[in-house]
Amino acid sequence: MPVTFVIIGAGSRGMTYSQYAKHYPDDMQIVGVADCRTLRAQRAQKTFNIPDSHVFSDWRDVAAVEKFADAAIIATQDKDHKEPAVALAKKGYHILLEKPMATTEEDCLEIVSCCKENSVLLAVCHVLKYTPQAMKIKELIDCGAIGQVVNIQHLEPIGFWHYGHSYVRGNWRREDESSFCLMTKSCHDLDLICYWMGRSKCVKVSSFGQLTHFTKEHKPEGAANRCLDCKVEKECPYSAVKLYLNQVKQGNTHWPVDVVVDIPDIESVTEALRTGPYGRCVYDCDNDVVTHQVVNLQFDQGQTVSFTMVAFTESVCRREVKVHGTMGELTCKFGGPVYQYDFRTRKMITHSPELSNAPAGLSGHGGADYRTIRSFLKALQTGDSSLLSTGPEESLRSHLLVFAAEKARKENRVISLSL
Ligand SMILES: NC(=O)c1ccc[n+]([C@@H]2O[C@H](COP(=O)([O-])OP(=O)(O)OC[C@H]3O[C@@H](n4cnc5c(N)ncnc54)[C@H](O)[C@@H]3O)[C@@H](O)[C@H]2O)c1
Repeated sequence: MPVTFVIIGAGSRGMTYSQYAKHYPDDMQIVGVADCRTLRAQRAQKTFNIPDSHVFSDWRDVAAVEKFADAAIIATQDKDHKEPAVALAKKGYHILLEKPMATTEEDCLEIVSCCKENSVLLAVCHVLKYTPQAMKIKELIDCGAIGQVVNIQHLEPIGFWHYGHSYVRGNWRREDESSFCLMTKSCHDLDLICYWMGRSKCVKVSSFGQLTHFTKEHKPEGAANRCLDCKVEKECPYSAVKLYLNQVKQGNTHWPVDVVVDIPDIESVTEALRTGPYGRCVYDCDNDVVTHQVVNLQFDQGQTVSFTMVAFTESVCRREVKVHGTMGELTCKFGGPVYQYDFRTRKMITHSPELSNAPAGLSGHGGADYRTIRSFLKALQTGDSSLLSTGPEESLRSHLLVFAAEKARKENRVISLSL
């Protein structure tokens, strides 16, 4: 029997995980959808052949009727995770929850305790844990390939245009509307760091960072408020004409263009750039989240970790990591091999993680989107929650670390903790 699901928020992420049902109908079936954007609810209804009675315009309507599926994919925006997660867990739905779990510590704690109390499985979509590189690094650390881990350096390069799209013009540009950048962008990375550090607990954290460049003071002379009207747009790397309109002209109607309008074509995108948030000058927006941040962590055996996230990179989200152990070191640029240098033999070993065999629509994050939903399904089918790398305890732990790091940045101090 397939595990049945209701999609809560049939946007970009909700529809991604749901593709699994198309490829493996014996394992997964989508039997309901809730989305306040009618077009999106209809798109999901058509894709998965959902009966009219199970198409809703709000998650609250799903919570109001009798439970009709085994599990819910909650992929609404960041601030709208806690309420549906708690309401649907109370109804007995198992929960696949997009990251971040929630935007306050209290809400994260409530979600975890509510899922426990109602004996439902909770998995958080920390997809990066399921990338072949992250898994290989974990395996090498755990088998002692580099001795004791002493230090990790981890970089998250956001990508200059991606930052402009999501964090200056887009959904994650303001803390009051979503959350702070370390949470919205880098909770994945701190989660990975905790994963690699295993049983070691983080005991101290400090952090620095700020918003720079994407402010009114940096607006070039002669620039207009919208790229379509701008005389200097051609010289601007963040031009919305280049990022969206020219993409459509070249036939690319996928991300990020499909975030601008549901059905992208030259007319609809032009209109959206004329009137909507994505046509705004990046120096004249209402953004307030940081463009760069460093986090320093000390673990309980004296191990140190430094994490950097930065907007101003060519690379888009292709993480780089170095793990320094007493007997060797690991280096990896995600997407490529993991290199292990062994101090004993003075030789380099190249580990090429298996290429993703993810089916169409699920190959995002190096196939990790596919492995995330597959692990959740397997855990549900077998009742074995140890199949999840992103269960409630570890996800809560890394979220609490993210909150602590941001507090350290805002309060300009070192915070002691026991996570
Ligand atoms: N795991 C990852 O790597 C990853 C990547 C990108 C985004 N995300 C997270 O996934 C979540 C969704 O992001 P997205 O890009 O898919 O967003 P999206 O805006 O494309 O989708 C969210 C959907 O929720 C719907 N919605 C809003 N209120 C609702 C309500 N009351 N009831 C039902 N539906 C409602 C919206 O209409 C929209 O279609 C966010 O929290 C985001 O931070 C995770």
